[in-house]
Amino acid sequence: MRKKIVAGNWKMNKTLDEAKALLSEVIHMVQDEVTSDVTVVLCPPSIYLTTARQYIPTEGRIKLGAQNCHEKKEGAYTGEASAHMLSSVGAEYVILGHSERRQYFGETNATLADKVNVVLENGLTPIFCCGESRELRENGDYVGYVKGQLTDSLFHLSAEEFGKVVIAYEPIWAIGTGLTASSGQAQDMHFELRQHIASKYGDEVAQDTTILYGGSANAANAAELFSQPDVDGGLIGGASLKSRDFTTVVKAA
Ligand code: G3H
Repeated sequence: MRKKIVAGNWKMNKTLDEAKALLSEVIHMVQDEVTSDVTVVLCPPSIYLTTARQYIPTEGRIKLGAQNCHEKKEGAYTGEASAHMLSSVGAEYVILGHSERRQYFGETNATLADKVNVVLENGLTPIFCCGESRELRENGDYVGYVKGQLTDSLFHLSAEEFGKVVIAYEPIWAIGTGLTASSGQAQDMHFELRQHIASKYGDEVAQDTTILYGGSANAANAAELFSQPDVDGGLIGGASLKSRDFTTVVKAA
């Protein structure tokens, strides 16, 4: 059975005190108000993971996630964190290949294949991000491009390994811009990606794969986006920084 997930990517925001306040508010609101079986993944900056672990109950729907990890197991990589380290502080999910990582930190499909491997080896769940630029959407084979991101970074996995991966489709033109993809645009791409997964791993694996939408999803549009048959939740940026908005998004899943 495919899981419904709403993940909050806080990106590089919040002081420690602000992070504590947001954690406390979100956890209480989700516990008090959410009745569905949606899984909620909170992804604060890595410097706050240990603190966040203390706020999030060990059992229950709320999980802890990181925003990135290094592709090597350990060693002389100043400023980086390994998957093993993230696991040791209690993270269960790791966002990989966010377009901001690809754009500003030069992450390639090949690097991301290594990151996916090391994350799975450490028993963590990768949330693998993919998505096209506005230019490609307007002038190119954007569906082929996004399928290629999956092929290059994920299709070396066995079916069992692939079954542990969560996909997040995030059109770059929609991230932080207020230009949400329409529910039809999101559904069309999610359907294409599920077909692509089926062509490699078969229908059962494809049907069980959780595919999230990300890109200006918020309290006002989440219900419509999540009502689409191939949209299994969201990867939320800006709206995850406000407890009321984020809880409303979670309730929509
Ligand atoms: O990881 C989250 C996405 O980049 C979406 O960010 O909701 O602020 O557009 P946004």
